Amino acid sequence: MALTPAAQLGLRSDFLWGVSTSAFQVEGAVKDDGRGPSIWDTRCRLKGGVGDGSNADVACDHYHRWPEDLELMKAIGVGAYRFSVAWPRLLPQGKGAINPAGLDFYDRLIDAVLEAGIEPWLCLYHWDLPQALDDLGGWTNRDCAGWFADYAVLVAKRYGDRVKNFATFNEFSVFTMFGYAIDWAAPGVTDRAAHLKAIHHVNLAHGAGVDVLRSLVPGASIGAIHNRQIVRPEGGLEENRAAARLLDAHWNGVFPDPQVLGFYPPLVARDMEPYVQAGDMARICRPTDWIGLNHYGPIYAKADPSTTWGYGWGSPPESANHPEVGWPIFPEVFKDELLELTRRYKMPIYVTENGCGGGAGSDTPDERGEIKDTHRIAYFREYTQAMRAAVAEGADLRGYFVWALLDNFEWGSGYGPRFGLAHVDFETLKRTLKNSAYWYRGLIRGEHRGE
Ligand code: BGC
Repeated sequence: MALTPAAQLGLRSDFLWGVSTSAFQVEGAVKDDGRGPSIWDTRCRLKGGVGDGSNADVACDHYHRWPEDLELMKAIGVGAYRFSVAWPRLLPQGKGAINPAGLDFYDRLIDAVLEAGIEPWLCLYHWDLPQALDDLGGWTNRDCAGWFADYAVLVAKRYGDRVKNFATFNEFSVFTMFGYAIDWAAPGVTDRAAHLKAIHHVNLAHGAGVDVLRSLVPGASIGAIHNRQIVRPEGGLEENRAAARLLDAHWNGVFPDPQVLGFYPPLVARDMEPYVQAGDMARICRPTDWIGLNHYGPIYAKADPSTTWGYGWGSPPESANHPEVGWPIFPEVFKDELLELTRRYKMPIYVTENGCGGGAGSDTPDERGEIKDTHRIAYFREYTQAMRAAVAEGADLRGYFVWALLDNFEWGSGYGPRFGLAHVDFETLKRTLKNSAYWYRGLIRGEHRGE
């Protein structure tokens, strides 16, 4: 029997190739059809909340233009679409009254995605907490885990007949650290206790969400999406090592460890104690089916006594920084991360995000309208090679999702960095597939075996 294109690359024959988006970054239509405000709508209105002063009121207008975006997915030939549901679209106040128009939107999207032969991968939470819940303390309030579970019930009951692949959260440590310890994301709190409470309550919400999905969706495949990135001390300096260790625990440990292994990393266990009640670890550590890895590159830590935890974001070595991407390209670190994940958690892995930004230059259409994003093709080539090498060394990898289908609203960076396989003209909202999209199509078809 002939090998599938994926098997010819040394991957599982049923390896899944996908693309990702998130609700707040692409949907726009923030006031349409009864959607309530999220903490990111609020942040966009704060002076300095978003670097370029922009907002996501329109973003890619995916809320209205999703049929076009589905055509892009079909043209690339992906097998899966990972998207997130906007909690404030379904429950404008976060709890209580349901918004039927919001429910209908995802019905339309899911039905059409399925009809196109693409698997919908639904993520419950990609950072857009309803503002009304933040007014009640948001993730610092233990009740938030229960509000999340109620929201998960609504999603499971409505879409569980058609959607089978669910992620509870996207990148736990990014939105808790940047939202509650370092003011780089909504809600922009900088406080140790708030950060620790948010960590624990989000973990409780994850466990409750897993239970809801397991009980309400027969045959569900449930996972959680972690951003794991090896943390290195800036400059390799001794004085930055303690900062790197603590950042590593907060960034890479405090979510997957309790969720999969049932304990907080030793370095932070004492800090967590005041918030952990009897029975909590059993509530958090629920059996899941896969672990999601979002990976871009390593990160660097430096000692900085002026910050909430005494660590700051360090700079990568000058020589390592890729001029176009703006951060270091280290495919071997991706391979190491996949192998470390396999060793530590012993679960099937999906790479739920990998991709590369850029901006001006090669992300701009030329006079013929072609987008020659050669730096992105080089990135994908090197990173998918590293992924294949990790599989050859034993990583149980089941699929790979590019971040992102579209250029979109990049949180605090606004519309500067462009991660899309499709270019979006934010004046006209016209989409154009970049050369990297055609390269990815070729990879899926097995055309880049020799590379
Ligand atoms: C997030 C995305 C984001 C991407 C690129 C990840 O941290 O999940 O929402 O757009 O990185 O910055």
